Amino acid sequence: MAEFPAFLSAQDVGSFAYLTVKDRLPQILTKAIDTLHRHKSEFFEKHGKEGVEAEKKAISLLSKLRNELQTDKPITRLADKWVDTDIWNHYLGHERSLLNGSDEEPRWFFSPWLFVECYMYRRIHEAIVQSPPIQDFDVFKESKDESFFESQESIDTLCMHIQQLRPARDFSEDELKDTLFKLLQISLWGNKCDLSLSGGESSSEKTDVINSLEGLMPFILINDTESLWELLSTYKKAAKSSVVRVDIVLDNSGFELVTDLVLADFLLSSELATEIHFHGKTIPWFVSDVTMHDFNWIIEHVRGSNQKFTSTCGAEWENHVKMGRWIYHDHIFWTLPHPYCAMPQVAPDLYTKLQKACLILFKGDLNYRKLMSDRKWEFTFPFHEALCGFHPAPLCSIRTLKCELQVGLQPGQAEQLMAFDPHWLTTGKYGVFQFDGPL
Ligand code: F6P
Ligand code: MG
Repeated sequence: MAEFPAFLSAQDVGSFAYLTVKDRLPQILTKAIDTLHRHKSEFFEKHGKEGVEAEKKAISLLSKLRNELQTDKPITRLADKWVDTDIWNHYLGHERSLLNGSDEEPRWFFSPWLFVECYMYRRIHEAIVQSPPIQDFDVFKESKDESFFESQESIDTLCMHIQQLRPARDFSEDELKDTLFKLLQISLWGNKCDLSLSGGESSSEKTDVINSLEGLMPFILINDTESLWELLSTYKKAAKSSVVRVDIVLDNSGFELVTDLVLADFLLSSELATEIHFHGKTIPWFVSDVTMHDFNWIIEHVRGSNQKFTSTCGAEWENHVKMGRWIYHDHIFWTLPHPYCAMPQVAPDLYTKLQKACLILFKGDLNYRKLMSDRKWEFTFPFHEALCGFHPAPLCSIRTLKCELQVGLQPGQAEQLMAFDPHWLTTGKYGVFQFDGPL
């Protein structure tokens, strides 16, 4: 059997995985604890004394979790009874078995980074579900909402730009292609805005993304958008009346989600697709990831805007949902620690669903890590091979780089980047469109 490279791990002192486990994750837990504290009176108003007791319980569970993490304690089995608890505990057993029968237990700083990071978010969920009556509280909701409101200006600018375009059906072939590329790039740079990198603080970088696109071109390290165009335009020409389904595996709520919805809207109005299937998370995840509640909340808020162009966009999106042209799905697989190559075994139903797509767009860094099994591949290793057989349909990763993992570069490209910018892999400054076409 071919040797696979090792998983990224906090074992590598000084790596981004190490810094994440040492600093970023405890900060995220501290912020979650603080959020619960600040909602104490709201819990009291809603649930009386029981609400306050629940808040105390959730805080003590999260403080215990932070202590386990910071002191590198063994990773324990989940104790709740949620739909995925057995799968998680089974996975933990698998991690233990990899320690070759020694007495060692998987620990925060020694296990694969992807596993421990996902586990932390799942333990946050455990702390909340074990604290009724606040079991539905989303500790990240406040940060997500704040970041949406802070992006209001950029959202209005984007919606105005879109509304002022002529109807896409009147576009020439070149105009269609140019607009598609523009909206794909906006959706790419929208991925800079995840809140887990900033510990929940939103950044104001996105203000004028439309006018920045040209200047951002050199930061796209791999650009397979021509292949996306080829695929979609071939479908459009060939299959006038049949279904052309594009799936978008969402990443972050707020501005990024708005950029994804703008893209999805254009795919329909340009007739490059006939239906869009969105995939989001069932539980709060990596601070800013989209849940069904966020998805509906954003559409509702865009619809309720007092800016005419923005509310028109929201009304159109609402209509897409009502008419079944936009379909939102969630599945527990997206919040499990497995790499995507394990999907056919772990979530065959989801894999079968994805096989119905003509194209799947995977947004963001975490999706990239899961597509690539979070292994330390060589920078020039082929994307297709690093997918390790995962190919439900033609797919494209749209991702800004926020971890020390990148494949498919030209020989010498990584070295050049490193010499010029030693933090090129982790700041979200660079991006890729990486496509794995029809087999
Ligand atoms: O912390 C791990 C990580 O993948 C980072 O590298 C990144 O900051 C974050 O999670 C999530 O990024 P994204 O929202 O793009 O998936
Ligand atoms: Mg995210």
